[in-house]
Amino acid sequence: MRLAVIGAGSMGAQIAQQAALCGLDVQLHDKSAEQLDKAVESNRGHLMRRVEKGKLSRPEADAALSRVRPTVELSEAASNAEFIIEAVFEEVELKRAVFAELDRVAPAEAVLASNSSTMGISQIAGVTLTPERCVNMHFFYPVLVMDLVEVVRGPQTSDETVERALAMARRMGRTPVLINREIDGFLVNRILHAATQEAYRLLDAGVAGFEDIDTAVEKGLNWPMGPFRLGDFSGLDVTYNARLHMYTTTGDERFRPSPLLEAKVKAGKLGRKTKEGWYTY
Ligand SMILES: NC(=O)c1ccc[n+]([C@@H]2O[C@H](COP(=O)([O-])OP(=O)(O)OC[C@H]3O[C@@H](n4cnc5c(N)ncnc54)[C@H](O)[C@@H]3O)[C@@H](O)[C@H]2O)c1
Repeated sequence: MRLAVIGAGSMGAQIAQQAALCGLDVQLHDKSAEQLDKAVESNRGHLMRRVEKGKLSRPEADAALSRVRPTVELSEAASNAEFIIEAVFEEVELKRAVFAELDRVAPAEAVLASNSSTMGISQIAGVTLTPERCVNMHFFYPVLVMDLVEVVRGPQTSDETVERALAMARRMGRTPVLINREIDGFLVNRILHAATQEAYRLLDAGVAGFEDIDTAVEKGLNWPMGPFRLGDFSGLDVTYNARLHMYTTTGDERFRPSPLLEAKVKAGKLGRKTKEGWYTY
């Protein structure tokens, strides 16, 4: 199976490497040669740590690394691929331009998947002549560790494309779930947002302090991090903007950002990256 990955940032580099670990031949394309070098080096570091820990043999690591072939030429990556996963910046016009080009240079039977975390494939596939072969495959960071892939079908995605995306996720050693229609936040982020929003409502209402809410979630639900610790980890601005996006796009009061969260963001207390958020670091 010949896979092409377009964009060699945090996601694309590891999508390519995970596939190669599972025996696929991968062409990894980025328009920046520097970014490709970084991706190759970073993947080497990850696999060598596995070798040191005895989780992977040296020949297996070397073989997996050599199965990822970097290229700055999109057409070289895509022209004989059977399956293509796009992971460029989260900008709709950029993704549309990449898909238009892929539609032109890739074999007609290749699946064109996007790893977008917010855009339904229908926002992108319209620029192609073949929207039925376009689908969303949402991997989670870090891809070398996180098992889940959300496969989201658009209104024009064919059954065959859906089946091939599910099969590709499995072939890459990942567990896919199928989402039958485009919906903001897909499954995981919707559920995470709902739980986080409830935690903020409880905090805003003075029902419990943030440490106790985190402890309740960590000890009672066995989540590795409570919502406030997780917010500090990913950046409270990220949490706030995600809430605001959901609120403005749906108009649903359930998603209105918490005043206490808004105050933290306005005060520049964004979590670990500013050394203070809900907790101090
Ligand atoms: N980072 C995450 O946690 C995460 C999780 C799931 C999904 N995603 C999605 O994955 C995609 C990539 O995210 P990321 O975090 O890897 O971004 P990133 O900024 O780390 O990498 C994006 C890469 O795309 C490259 N690029 C930009 N324009 C290009 C072009 N025209 N042709 C080829 N390459 C181009 C850039 O050089 C860069 O290396 C986004 O759609 C994002 O929403 C990200």
